[in-house]
Amino acid sequence: MNTAEKINKLNIPKHIAIIMDGNGRWAKQQGEDRIFGHHEGVNSVREIVEAAVEVGVKYLTIYAFSTENWNRPKEEVDALMELLVATISIEAPQLNKNGVKLEAIGNLKSLPPACYEELQEAMKLTEKNTKLTLVLALSYSAKWEITTAMKEIAEKVEKGTLAAKDISEDLIASHLCTKNYPDPELMIRTSGEHRISNFLLWQLAYAEFYFTDKLWPDFRKNDFYEAIIGYQNRERRFGKTSEQIAKQS
Ligand code: IPE
Ligand code: IPE
Ligand code: MG
Repeated sequence: MNTAEKINKLNIPKHIAIIMDGNGRWAKQQGEDRIFGHHEGVNSVREIVEAAVEVGVKYLTIYAFSTENWNRPKEEVDALMELLVATISIEAPQLNKNGVKLEAIGNLKSLPPACYEELQEAMKLTEKNTKLTLVLALSYSAKWEITTAMKEIAEKVEKGTLAAKDISEDLIASHLCTKNYPDPELMIRTSGEHRISNFLLWQLAYAEFYFTDKLWPDFRKNDFYEAIIGYQNRERRFGKTSEQIAKQS
């Protein structure tokens, strides 16, 4: 049985979030500079998106550039932005053919104009697709997202269009960038780091975390399937007891 066949098709996470990490270290291992690793990482993204479509995942959120990543050396930031423009422009037609809808979360206005425009174009091209929603987290950080949401909510209270007593978990969620997506059931991080680096702090409240030592450019379809199988072997209790969960199922 190959790895894909071991997946239980009745228990596929609807939403998987990925922190793709380790491009720089991968390149260093090859004696190349960090940018080479980012280029190679695009091949992994392509494969994982295909795999997600194949197994029937509905939402895939990929952390591509964090707010903190703006603090990297200028040459690396510039190269990443160029790579982003080139990748979106090359991949958009294929994404469209495969029924993938491209969306983005983050402080998109802070992206270079060429990048912002390419992104808007690709999102427009793919907006009617329904197989998979691919969400790129770009210039994204959860603390930025939550702060922005809090400001919006406070403004509504100030204007009198919202009463403080009506602030609920659902209302807060409806002010986040992810308002149109269910919370991820599974979060994958590559490269052996065990942290969430300011990614989806609210939305990952009850996600299962899957860590692998593989560096992102080495993370391919079978690794993605392994992560799903790992998820399927867990018991999600949501605060209840194991006995209660057994009774429910
Ligand atoms: C992840 O790889 C890609 C981005 C953050 C853009 P890194 O660039 O963080 O690679 P490492 O972690 O330094 O190896
Ligand atoms: C997290 O990776 C951000 C992205 C994958 C885009 P980093 O490599 O930037 O995170 P830290 O610095 O190791 O926490
Ligand atoms: Mg890193």
